[in-house]
Amino acid sequence: NFMKDDDVSQECKNLISSLPTSDKDYTGKKLYNYQGSWFYPNTIQAILNFQKHFRARDSDIILASLPKSGTTWLKALVFAVVHRNKYAPNLVSHPLLSDNPHNLVRFLEVDLYVKNQCPGLEELPSPRIFATHVPFQKLRESLRDSPCKVVYVCRNIKDVLVSRWHFRSKIVSNYSLEDMINEYIKGAYFCGPIEEQVLSYWKESLVNSNLVLFMRYEEMIEKPVAQVMRLADFLGCSFSEEEKQSGMVEKILELCSLGNLSNLEANKIGTSTCGIAHHAFFRKGGVGDWKNHLTDEMARKINEMVEKKLEGSGLKF
Ligand code: A3P
Repeated sequence: NFMKDDDVSQECKNLISSLPTSDKDYTGKKLYNYQGSWFYPNTIQAILNFQKHFRARDSDIILASLPKSGTTWLKALVFAVVHRNKYAPNLVSHPLLSDNPHNLVRFLEVDLYVKNQCPGLEELPSPRIFATHVPFQKLRESLRDSPCKVVYVCRNIKDVLVSRWHFRSKIVSNYSLEDMINEYIKGAYFCGPIEEQVLSYWKESLVNSNLVLFMRYEEMIEKPVAQVMRLADFLGCSFSEEEKQSGMVEKILELCSLGNLSNLEANKIGTSTCGIAHHAFFRKGGVGDWKNHLTDEMARKINEMVEKKLEGSGLKF
């Protein structure tokens, strides 16, 4: 639904009319460059909406990512970690067993604030967990001086690209990998380019490590227990010795695993509140699937682009 461009106010239409546009994307829609990043009109409207109305609570948690970087996994893990006293991970009625992670942790700009204000958010119990794909700068005003927590998940851009290509191929048949690569090289894709989005969180995590935790999908795959403990430490709900001994971390990982979530009835059917079929968020997972799809030349072109864009930042893919 965030790709539809109806429901845009006059104020937003005026703003959009002055912005640079992209070529039509795979859905036939154009993106607009708003303050350095590319969005659909509805997303720009939603950004204006949440910037006007959303004020973070000190206990809020905001999860951020580029699409296809492990957002669904992070949402499930943070939900399970934060609510483990209320919902033990082996509870048969655990919310993650009956609902998709995207409905339990909703996006600010592609879901909650698409239509002006979002009623009911004030009544939500703490800690509230939200998600976003927009660059950090767009959140700054809403966070102000709040000690709330932001967790960013970053994934190798070649795996992100291949994952997104599979995702789009379900929507548009014969979607070409070359087109996808060209789009990434130009940087004109939803919430791109990386030097605006990924780097905004990376830089903030370096100067303000209490506010932003920068996680890597690859590290979560390689050392899941250590990374979930790191996540809990950052969120101020470290695992006790007793919990560690009892296998609490492993149980949370099992609950949130790709195998477990993707096999649930709740994730095989239905559509999330952001308008995407639940099953579309689950595929193969893991590290390095790009090797099965990209030629050496394609990989070289992407590496070159990434190196140029991340030069001097200290961030490596
Ligand atoms: P692949 O397409 O490479 O398989 P996002 O959640 O940001 O949309 O990212 C989707 C990617 O994360 C997909 O990658 C998907 O398979 C993978 N994924 C979804 N749930 C996961 C989980 N619980 N654990 C690990 N990876 C997961």
